[in-house]
Amino acid sequence: MKPFLLNFPQRGDERGWLVVAEGNKDVPFEIKRIFYIYGTEPNVVRGQHANRNSEFVLVNVAGSCKVRTRNGRGDDQVFDLNQPNMGLYIPRMIWKDMYDFSQDSILLCLASESYNPHEYIRSYEEYSLEMSQNNYG
Ligand code: TYD
Repeated sequence: MKPFLLNFPQRGDERGWLVVAEGNKDVPFEIKRIFYIYGTEPNVVRGQHANRNSEFVLVNVAGSCKVRTRNGRGDDQVFDLNQPNMGLYIPRMIWKDMYDFSQDSILLCLASESYNPHEYIRSYEEYSLEMSQNNYG
């Protein structure tokens, strides 16, 4: 499966805006964990890993950043996350790099699994070798 963008409905009235991301509804999995990334300098690249089990939805709720996804077989995609109602779905076993963070960027990450450092692949060499040997669809 490939990463794709989600467009969350914006519920607005005279008081402002509200966006809902409900698990198994607006987000294609049950949400077990959230974390957020902020205060990242513009020249820093974060992520740089793939996850064996976790699926993610990334939302830049303030500011902007870019996300490059790779599948180890030449299918690279770049997403500009710059709207609080825009989510990026990332399936398991996809390599991801987050970069070009604006100073005010707050990148909210919704995950399908609890944190387990052992499911992270942090070497691109190891990742691409595994992707060339296995059929992850
Ligand atoms: P890291 O995975 O390197 O962050 P990023 O993907 O943004 O580059 O995580 C940074 C630190 O936070 C690292 O020490 C692991 C820890 N961490 C947790 O304890 N739980 C979590 O859910 C996450 C995502 C990270």
